[in-house]
Amino acid sequence: MYVCLCHAVTDTQIKEAVSQGDISLADVKKRLGVGSQCGKCTRMASQIIQRQLDIE
Ligand code: FES
Repeated sequence: MYVCLCHAVTDTQIKEAVSQGDISLADVKKRLGVGSQCGKCTRMASQIIQRQLDIE
C-alpha cells in the first residue's frame, strides 16, 4: 500500500530500506523522500520502520 502519496512510496519500499540498513525516518527520508513534502506520512512511516526493526 502507498504510505507516502507525495513521493509514491509503498510500505514494501520502506521495509526494503530498513533491510538495506536504514534505521530511522531520517534515513528513509534521505533514501526515498518519505515525509519531505506535506509530512502527513511520517507517523505511519515511523511505525513501519519500527515494526521492521523489531522483526530484523
Ligand atoms: Fe509523504 Fe506527503 S505523503 S510527504
